[in-house]
Amino acid sequence: MNFFQSFLFPNLHNKKAKLLGLWLIWVWGFILIGVSLYATQLMPLPSYFKGQIKKTMIFNGELVDGPSITLFTAPRPFVGTVGERQALAIRSWLGLSPDISVVLFSQDSSVFSFAELLSHRVSVEPNIDFTFLGTPFFHSMVARSKASSSDVSVVIDPNTVLLPDFIKTIRHAHRLDHDWLLFSSSKSVPHFPFHLDADGKHWLRDDGSRVKTQKDFLSQEWKWNLCEEKMLIAWNSGDLPLHKGVLPPFLYGKGLHNRWLINEALLSDFRFVFDASWAISNLYLNDLGQDFDRTSGDFLGLATGKRFWEVAGNSNLAMLYGSLYFHEQNFSNIFRLFQCGGYYLFINSAQMIVYPLRYKGSLSLRKEVMFKSTREKNTLECIDTIRSTEGTKDCSVKNYLNVSMPISLSLSLEILLSLRADKNKTVVLAVVGYSYKDMLMSWVCRLHHLQISNFLVCALDNDIYEFCVLQGLPVFKYANLETKISFDNCHFGTECFQKVTKVKSRMVLQILKLGYNVLMSDVDIYWFKNPLPFLSSFGPAVLVAQSDEYKLTGPINLPRRLNSGFYYAHLDAMTIAGLEKVVEHAANSNLSEQPSFYDTLCGEGGYNRIDDSRCLEPQTNLTVQFLDRDLFPNGAYKDLWQERNVKEACLIKGCFIIHNNWISGRRKKLERQVPSGLWEYDMSTRMCLQMWHKTKFVYF
Ligand SMILES: *[C@@H]1O[C@H](CO)[C@@H](O)[C@H](O)[C@H]1NC(C)=O
Ligand SMILES: *[C@@H]1O[C@H](CO)[C@@H](O)[C@H](O)[C@H]1NC(C)=O
Ligand SMILES: *[C@@H]1O[C@H](CO)[C@@H](O)[C@H](O)[C@H]1NC(C)=O
Ligand SMILES: *[C@@H]1O[C@H](CO)[C@@H](O)[C@H](O)[C@H]1NC(C)=O
Ligand SMILES: *[C@@H]1O[C@H](CO)[C@@H](O)[C@H](O)[C@H]1NC(C)=O
Repeated sequence: MNFFQSFLFPNLHNKKAKLLGLWLIWVWGFILIGVSLYATQLMPLPSYFKGQIKKTMIFNGELVDGPSITLFTAPRPFVGTVGERQALAIRSWLGLSPDISVVLFSQDSSVFSFAELLSHRVSVEPNIDFTFLGTPFFHSMVARSKASSSDVSVVIDPNTVLLPDFIKTIRHAHRLDHDWLLFSSSKSVPHFPFHLDADGKHWLRDDGSRVKTQKDFLSQEWKWNLCEEKMLIAWNSGDLPLHKGVLPPFLYGKGLHNRWLINEALLSDFRFVFDASWAISNLYLNDLGQDFDRTSGDFLGLATGKRFWEVAGNSNLAMLYGSLYFHEQNFSNIFRLFQCGGYYLFINSAQMIVYPLRYKGSLSLRKEVMFKSTREKNTLECIDTIRSTEGTKDCSVKNYLNVSMPISLSLSLEILLSLRADKNKTVVLAVVGYSYKDMLMSWVCRLHHLQISNFLVCALDNDIYEFCVLQGLPVFKYANLETKISFDNCHFGTECFQKVTKVKSRMVLQILKLGYNVLMSDVDIYWFKNPLPFLSSFGPAVLVAQSDEYKLTGPINLPRRLNSGFYYAHLDAMTIAGLEKVVEHAANSNLSEQPSFYDTLCGEGGYNRIDDSRCLEPQTNLTVQFLDRDLFPNGAYKDLWQERNVKEACLIKGCFIIHNNWISGRRKKLERQVPSGLWEYDMSTRMCLQMWHKTKFVYF
C-alpha cells in the first residue's frame, strides 16, 4: 500500500526539466513524504537496469564511452606545503580516469617543471591574461576553458581533491540531452590524513593501509559551507552559451566570481544549471587553516576589501557592461543532484519535485512504474537525509558589495619602478587618458606577447586609472593635472592635446631623476619586436627619438621633425639637463611639447644639427639621434599604413615599431589599426587576443 500518486505528465510543468527531456516519472509532494512507505515490497531490479548502473558506477578507467574531461586550474608556484597540497590534488584528478586531462594556468617556472614530471595529460597554459602581479583573470580562464575541445570542462581550485564520485557524476551528467552547467561546493578539510600511492590510483592511510571505499573518506567530519565560494564548476561543451552578456574581468580567487557565473547562468536560462554538491566529493585541502590568498594580490585594494565586482563602483565600467549587474538568484530554488542507493535524482525542494536522472531510451516507462516501489523507499530515506543536511544559510552576497570603496593600487611610483624595471634599470612609459583605453590595452597585450614586462602606465584621469587597476596594469596617477583630459577629441593640435603631451616629458624627467632609463612610447605605436637592446646601444648623452619626417629624401632631422611620442632617454646628467630645458620651455609655450623638444635640443631652425640625423645641444652636450625610419617608421613614411598587408611590409623593412600617427582622432586611428591586424585586444570581452581564441572579434 502506498500513498503516492503516479502522474504521467505529457507536458512537464518546469521549463528547465522540459528542456532536459528527462522523463518525469513521479511528482511527489513533500507533504506526502515521511508518510510510511516501509511496507512497500522489495523487488529485484531488472537485469538490464543493473547493467546500466554497473556500467556507469564502476569505474576502472576502461570505459570506452566516457566523455573527455579537462580540468582547468590556476595553481600557485609549486613550493613548500602549498606545492605539496596542489600536487596531491592534481594527482587525485589524474588518477580518476585516463579521460581526464589538466590545464594549469600559470607563467611560473615551477609549474612548468611540475607539469613535465607528470603525464602528458597535464599541460601549462601561460597565454591567458594575468595582472602584473601574476594573478590570473577569471574571465580569461573561462574563455580559455570554453575554447577547449573536450566534452566536459571543469574549472576547479588547485587545492581540491576529487574522489571517484566526481567522474561518475560527470559521466551521468554527460548523458543529459540538454546542455548543462553544474557546480559543487567544496568541503573544507583542515587535516587530510591520506596519501596517494605511487601510481596515483589508490588512497593510503598514514599506516600504509589502503582506503577501500569512498565512505572511509566521507565519514570524517568535514566542514561544509554551502555559502563558500570554493566550488568546482563544470559544463558540457555543447552549443548553448553559459550565460548572456560578458563576464567581467574578475581576479581569480579574489571574490565571488563563481557565484556570479552561476547566477548569470541561472538567469540566462540557456543551460540546465544544477547543484551537484551532494553527488560530487570535492575536498578543499585547507591544512593551514587559511584562505587561499595570493600574497601578491594583496597589493590590490580589490582583494582585501572584499570588492569583487568592479562594475558596481564605477559608472564608466558599468556602462561597458550594461545590464550586467549582479542579479542575485535564490539558490534554494535550484535543482540539486543526489546520488541515492545507486540512483541519481534531481530534487528541487522549493518546488517539491523529484526527477530521476534518466537517459533517453534506457528503460521503458512500464518497467519504471513496475519497480518504482523499491526506489521510492530508498529515495525517501535519502531525501530525509538530504533535507537534514541541506544548507539553510542565507548565502546572500550583499555584504560583499561596497560601492563606496575606491579602486586603487596602493603602490607608489617608486615601488612600481623597483618592481617593474628590467635588469638595466629601464622602464617603458605610456601616458594615457581614458579615451585611449582600447589602444592602451592593445599596446599592453602586444607587450605581453613580446614578453616585455617593464612597462608602466601613467594615468591622466581617474577613469583610466581605475580601468588600469581593474585590468591588472601597473599604473600610477599623474597628480598635478588641473583639467580633465578624458575627451574623445583630445587629438593633435587641440589645447587638451598640448596639456597631455607636456605631462609626458615631465614624467620622463621625474623617472630619470629617480634613477631609471625611460623609453617613452605612445600607445598608438605597434611594436613588432623589442627595441630596447637597440635603443640602449646608443649609450649615454644621446636622446634617441623617432623622426616625423614624411618626405622620402633629405635629412630626417629638419626643424620640428622630432616625434616626442617615441624616444629613449638614457639615465645620465646630460640627458637630465637636456630634458629639464625641454620641460621648462614647454611650460612657457602655448604649443604642444613636441616643438619644445626640437627647438630646445636642435635649436630653432635646426642650428644645432650636426648632420642629417643628429643634433648636438651645446650647453648640455646632449646629442639627439633621429631613428632610421625604415626601422622606426612614422605614420606617413612610405604610406606603409596603406599597404594591403601592413605587417608584412613593415617586417620586410625590419621595423621595430610603426607609429599610427599622421592621422587625427582616436576613431580614425582605430579604423586604420584594427583592420590592419596590428591589434591585440578584444574590446568586447576585455581580453588580450590569444592563439586559442576561436572566434574573430568584431569591433565596428
Ligand atoms: C528563497 O526561496 C525560498 C523558497 O521559495 C524562500 O523560503 C526564501 O525566503 C527565499 N529566500 C530569499 C532570500 O528570497
Ligand atoms: C565601504 O568602504 C568605505 C570606504 O573604504 C568604508 O568607509 C565603509 O565602512 C565600507 N562599508 C562596509 C559596509 O564595509
Ligand atoms: C641591457 O644592457 C645590456 C648591456 O648594455 C645590453 O646588451 C642589453 O641589450 C640590454 N637589454 C635591454 C633589454 O635593453
Ligand atoms: C602663442 O605664442 C606665440 C609666440 O609665443 C604668439 O605669437 C601667439 O599669439 C600665441 N598664440 C596664442 C593662441 O596664444
Ligand atoms: C661637452 O663636450 C666637450 C667635448 O667632449 C667638452 O669639451 C665640454 O666641456 C663638454 N661640455 C659640458 C657642458 O659638459
